[in-house]
Amino acid sequence: MCRVSGYIGKKDALPIIMDGLRRQSYGGYDSAGVLIGDGFNLACVKAVGKLENLEKKLENQPLKGNWGLGQIRWATHGAVTEINAHPHQDCKRNIFLVHNGIIENYRDLKEQLIKEGHTFSSGTDTEVLAHLIEKYFQGNLLEEAVRRALKDVRGTYGLLVVAGNDPEKIVAARLSSPLLIGINNGEYILASDPTAIAPYARRIINLDDYEIATVSQDDLRVIKEKIPVFLEFTAEETEKGECPHFMLKEIMAQPETIENAIRGRLLFEEGAVKLGGLDSVSAQLKKINRLILIACGTANYAARIGKYMLEEYAGISAEVDVASEFRYRKPMVDEKTAVIFISQSGETADTLAALKEMKKKGVLTIGITNVVGSSMARETGSGVYIRSGPEIAVASTKAFLGQLTTLAMLTVYLGRQRNMSLVTGGRIISELSNLPEFARQVLKSAPQIEKLAKKYSEFKNFWFIGRKYNFPIALEGALKLKEISYLHAEGAAGGELKHGPLALIDENFPTIALCPSDSVYEKMISNIQEIKARGGPVLAIATEGNKEIKEIADDVIFIPKTLEMLTPMLSVIPLQLFAYYMAALLGCDIDKPRNLAKSCTVE
Ligand code: AGP
Repeated sequence: MCRVSGYIGKKDALPIIMDGLRRQSYGGYDSAGVLIGDGFNLACVKAVGKLENLEKKLENQPLKGNWGLGQIRWATHGAVTEINAHPHQDCKRNIFLVHNGIIENYRDLKEQLIKEGHTFSSGTDTEVLAHLIEKYFQGNLLEEAVRRALKDVRGTYGLLVVAGNDPEKIVAARLSSPLLIGINNGEYILASDPTAIAPYARRIINLDDYEIATVSQDDLRVIKEKIPVFLEFTAEETEKGECPHFMLKEIMAQPETIENAIRGRLLFEEGAVKLGGLDSVSAQLKKINRLILIACGTANYAARIGKYMLEEYAGISAEVDVASEFRYRKPMVDEKTAVIFISQSGETADTLAALKEMKKKGVLTIGITNVVGSSMARETGSGVYIRSGPEIAVASTKAFLGQLTTLAMLTVYLGRQRNMSLVTGGRIISELSNLPEFARQVLKSAPQIEKLAKKYSEFKNFWFIGRKYNFPIALEGALKLKEISYLHAEGAAGGELKHGPLALIDENFPTIALCPSDSVYEKMISNIQEIKARGGPVLAIATEGNKEIKEIADDVIFIPKTLEMLTPMLSVIPLQLFAYYMAALLGCDIDKPRNLAKSCTVE
């Protein structure tokens, strides 16, 4: 994903900007570039490929100066070439900018600007912005030219702009793409993602949509006053430490993830939960009789599990859809409907678009997200932070568990507003408080799972099957495996096997079967027997103490017994580890899998 980085202050800008780009590189990119200003002199270096290529070029062409900007690009418009890398500049090489987003009307703008005599050098949409600002920059202030230019633009942007003839100044502008400013004693660090700011500043400003900030060494002006909030995490949380990959670090951190999510929120005496972010809408929530849960990818699978929880224990009708479909549908909603949006990053374009559509209809919207101050958090205004800490690996793991923990608490919250008894509420939250320890027990089977990954690494195709609460876990397990190992993996409801999937089963097509001791266990055993009868290898995820499963499946990974509705929080962990070890065996780029981005901030 594209990410921008900027600095202005008393220090040497280049190392800070480069560090910012490195810290944001987990989302995937294909080229990079930096521009450094020293007084009136601006110097720019760009390179295709990884940041190491840019660093090599900078060794031969070191850039000195105390202000500047940089970008890592994930190509949307224009091939992966050095000329298409950011920063982009105007005709006179006076204005330079970096951009995260998409200029949807760039063709029309480019055509008009060429007619007005501008010459373009790249094939990107972004370059249009540089010429547009040049057009309006008639010796006035850079920020005024930027403001005027953006009025012509349709699209999204997290934008940083500088000008040689208006030096020692960075103009930042935001619409839909995140942009933050770290503040630290007369120096400012700008970035798309708070992880790039964490080592340099503890106070940040989140720009809102349509805000333009003008940052110079001793001054920061934003159209609307913003009260800085403290960053939610430290620099250490954004580093791998001794783990070989962020993904493994994040899988191993899941017991703490659950602990962080429940901390201060479980009211054992009342068999209830406290979710402060819902206080302002508590009365409205009491009146709703229908929930729609909207999310993408892994978050959508969490939503599917939330649906089962909310129906079974809160007694509320709940439906789920993927945001990219929902935003173009014509859903029937009314004052008794609430829509819950789930997004780790809080920046996923489809989810945000669906959210804005529901707000237009006046529907109650609730956000469940991991990033404080994210676009979704600010758009919904009410919701629950999952408190999972920065999730760096593209493949979502601990945030998924944070989402499930939050949905379990939301189920108790809404259930206790309705017919859920104190006893039932107490049982759920008491079991929830046991989950961190149960998760630690599951993580101890990592060496066994690593061996199983080796055993199954000869296969190229995998089925994942589950029922009820574990059907979405089958989908999630398949997604984890495919997105980091590039192997073909599909999830299916166990009951669907005979409607097609069984045709694929033979000795070369293994199945991972989620069959904890729950209300659909016998049905899952039947499914496993159907598969075995056709020679298909089966790796089962089952509950500790199950004696028969070893006679039926080829391999078994055990998880502790817990409430059926909480089982997914344990059954997903072996699948995360299985995917991780398989990808490691295959030598894949685990934290930054090809073609994928951590947060899809464009459609
Ligand atoms: C999951 O491993 C993927 N990274 C992807 O499916 C992700 O869950 C999806 O893009 C949604 O992201 P969000 O939670 O930040 O909205």
